[in-house]
Amino acid sequence: MKNIDSYTHLRGESLFVDDMMIRQDALFGLCFDSPKAHGKITKVDYSKAAALEGVERIFTYKDILGENQIGGIIPDEPLWAEDEVHFWGQPIAFIVATSEAIAKKARALIEIEIEELHVITTAKEAKEKGSFINAPRSFNLGNTSDTFKNCDYVFEGETFSNGQEHLYLETQGCYVEPKENGNIKITSSTQGPTQVQKTAAKVLGIPMHRIEVDVIRLGGGFGGKEDQATPWAVMAAVAVQHLNKPVKYMLNRHDDLRMTGKRHPYSSFFKIGLTKDLKIQGFEVEFLQNSGAAADLSPAIAERTLFHATNSYFIPNVKTTVYSCKTNLPPNTAFRGFGGPQGMFVIESAIAAAADNMGIDKATIQEANLLVENDEFSYGQIATEVQATKAWETAKEKFNLEALQKEVSDYNTQNYQTKKGISVMPIAFGISFTNTPMNHARALIHIYQDGSVGVSTGAVEMGQSVNTKMLQVAQDILGISADLVKLESTNTTRVANTSPSAASSTADLNGKAVEMACNNLIKRLQKVASTLLSKNIESITFQEGAVFIDGYKTALTWEAVIAQAMLERVALTENAHYATPIIHFDKTKEKGHPFAYHVYGTAITTITLDCLRGTYEIDAVDIVHDFGKSMNLGIDIGQVEGALAQGIGWMTMEEIAYDTDGRLLSNALSTYKVPDVFSAAKKVAVVPLETEGNPMAIKKSKAVGEPPLMYGIGSYFAIQHAVKAFNKNHKLQFNAPFTPEKVLMSLYEK
Ligand code: MTE
Ligand code: HPA
Ligand code: MOS
Repeated sequence: MKNIDSYTHLRGESLFVDDMMIRQDALFGLCFDSPKAHGKITKVDYSKAAALEGVERIFTYKDILGENQIGGIIPDEPLWAEDEVHFWGQPIAFIVATSEAIAKKARALIEIEIEELHVITTAKEAKEKGSFINAPRSFNLGNTSDTFKNCDYVFEGETFSNGQEHLYLETQGCYVEPKENGNIKITSSTQGPTQVQKTAAKVLGIPMHRIEVDVIRLGGGFGGKEDQATPWAVMAAVAVQHLNKPVKYMLNRHDDLRMTGKRHPYSSFFKIGLTKDLKIQGFEVEFLQNSGAAADLSPAIAERTLFHATNSYFIPNVKTTVYSCKTNLPPNTAFRGFGGPQGMFVIESAIAAAADNMGIDKATIQEANLLVENDEFSYGQIATEVQATKAWETAKEKFNLEALQKEVSDYNTQNYQTKKGISVMPIAFGISFTNTPMNHARALIHIYQDGSVGVSTGAVEMGQSVNTKMLQVAQDILGISADLVKLESTNTTRVANTSPSAASSTADLNGKAVEMACNNLIKRLQKVASTLLSKNIESITFQEGAVFIDGYKTALTWEAVIAQAMLERVALTENAHYATPIIHFDKTKEKGHPFAYHVYGTAITTITLDCLRGTYEIDAVDIVHDFGKSMNLGIDIGQVEGALAQGIGWMTMEEIAYDTDGRLLSNALSTYKVPDVFSAAKKVAVVPLETEGNPMAIKKSKAVGEPPLMYGIGSYFAIQHAVKAFNKNHKLQFNAPFTPEKVLMSLYEK
């Protein structure tokens, strides 16, 4: 089945927040944000701005009737700054005017004085100064200190991976309307409608039931709207509470880039020990996460870094520690992979360092340490249904790795000005929210009396095609055609208390709830059909829009059964709740079984490097990916390709830059380069690995949203390989992104 949105997307008819019909008296909001990264606000003068014709009102923390607090995990972030600012772009006030243009003019008239304080922009400096978000976390397995003594090789090193801008096509935004009796309806471009509802209730000082949040769809989220869609919606809601008029706020690209957090940069220090047989015996890492000025989702992201610190390898002795370092950057946030990619970059760097020092191929060490059945992860989960070796072997055979490696080395002996590089990147990514209590979802299904069906879930459509998957589940169980099923918007009055659409788990969690609700409806309808046909219930199934008896089609249609059910006053609405079984995690011991299952795969990346210019082209990325039993291969391959491009961008060209004052320099698309059609891999091949698929995956079709991003890490090491082929003196660096500038310096380093 095609993505059900493809027709309207292609014609530009799909609706987003900015396409909504708004009320004639709607006003427009605009945030006034800090022009300094750290300091005391000594004076703000709003008088000129407020006096501008068309400015309705300017809101500050003083107008908040509830709490000035939006922190999700830790209450450490005000909606609007009070007397101090902690990052450049921190919201201070909210201008509401009759047009966006007037609000913008007014913003320029606000006068502010800030007594500047010392600005920290790097995690390293924050660590030195003891500036942290919370206490560090450590995962331990075995005993590393004894192990290193018995290793034949021990290497230490440092890595850095930079942040990454989400660059969702649709910027952050919302439209908020007053309803009767002080009730408020928020339409938001958010991955977390309940988070918006809950936070708005807290800030406005009203109960959650007075706030309805509706999400049509997102023009991309990528984690950037898991938590950070909330403040804009809450600001507009505060204004609506006071003005009793609708307020719309769509951020322009500049404001969005400046005010929102990004993927966390990490500085990390590793120590890796191996024995002669190439087995990694010990691995220690200290991760310094640059969390920004408030917690946001940083503690959860730090945790996932630890979960993925050994990627798809078994290492018997592991000690990993992560510090969430408080700096004066906008609070960094969820981004596809959620800290996992940052963890995996370090183990891959450590293996590369070891291979380089030992004078052997990186892939040899990788292959010798792949996870096998019943291996233990550092967090205590026992690996089962492990596909690491199978994915590696399949990639090796399908894409003829040895021949590719030989081609590369032959090319490199024959060519001087250009060099080729190759790398292999295996992945293992855990599926479930690492925070066990978040793994639940609900579905509400109505069968209307004409036989058509409406499906509501907590899933947010953000381009990943989760709605198409939900439709497939419903259609399949009800045995009706796709055009009888409609996916409703995501709305907190229909499906409440949702976890955000994130952790690649949206289709699994919500799909299971849809499955349960549909199965319950079918049970009722079997009874109706059984009476109509005088056949026993067990013999009845629903397929092709009709009733089947013992597998044979009858003349009784779906519509006729529904009409009869109405006459018999049978309930045609069903609500179901699903919570992932089995999973648990004890944070006091840092042990448990946090993931429903893991997703595996292997990518082979080949690149060609222009050694005169430092520029490179990705020749091919050949991937073997574990989809389980994909329920929609077109959609799933699309996810692999998109995630790969995003991963390559992070590793090669996307360079977030702040100056030492904490001002974002890469604040436009002229200074922040993202992958485009020219830099895309010339060839991407995706071969599904034949696996059984886990029963906790919806229809045994494994989660696919985030894992393939980490194939992009292969591009870093393929480039590194080519650099080394040109310059034998190059001392390996692990400093991503590997931009052409850095490549050029490496090529000619003495
Ligand atoms: N694909 C598109 N087109 N747009 C997105 O915003 N977000 C990614 C991934 N794929 C995203 C996407 C992220 S960060 C996650 S967690 C998953 O989709 C969320 O959806 P899922 O749980 O349905 O996979
Ligand atoms: N992944 C993504 N988002 C999350 C998670 C997670 O594990 N935990 C909380 N939010
Ligand atoms: Mo995805 S980073 O879990 O929204």
